[in-house]
Amino acid sequence: MSENTSKKILVLNGPNLNLLGTREPGIYGHETLADVQELCATAAAAAGYETEFLQSNHEGVLLDAIHGARGKVAGIVFNPGAFTHTSVALADAISGTEARVIEVHISNVHQREAFRHHSYISPVAASIFVGAGVNGYVLAVQQLIHLDNR
Ligand code: DQA
Repeated sequence: MSENTSKKILVLNGPNLNLLGTREPGIYGHETLADVQELCATAAAAAGYETEFLQSNHEGVLLDAIHGARGKVAGIVFNPGAFTHTSVALADAISGTEARVIEVHISNVHQREAFRHHSYISPVAASIFVGAGVNGYVLAVQQLIHLDNR
């Protein structure tokens, strides 16, 4: 068991993920963000964890959420959306707070445009799930719990 005994997981989603379900369904599928929320809550509850869920289109809100989670959660399941490929600030927030982050991308970013192949988040993530659809969130929750109980 890690030093952080909190049984809470923050599930954080970045820009445009509020559009899930209607946004490019050929790439992101038909499940909505509400479906993702339920999938995460169910996977967490199976191991006695609670989830807190936040989506924002604003980088600063995501930064504040990472800062605010310090010492309060076992870790963060994070799909940073397009900020993955641009945000040094989010990477710095993760390193600066020593947050345990599991990075998730619904699509296989490596099969897509070259600008999606680089992630500022991956070097500071504990684990990464890419291209597993919304099941990647479930895998991320399970992996976070696994790491928390090592
Ligand atoms: C994404 C991939 C990103 O490149 C994109 O900007 C997103 C979603 C994914 O879940 O596949 O908004 O993070």
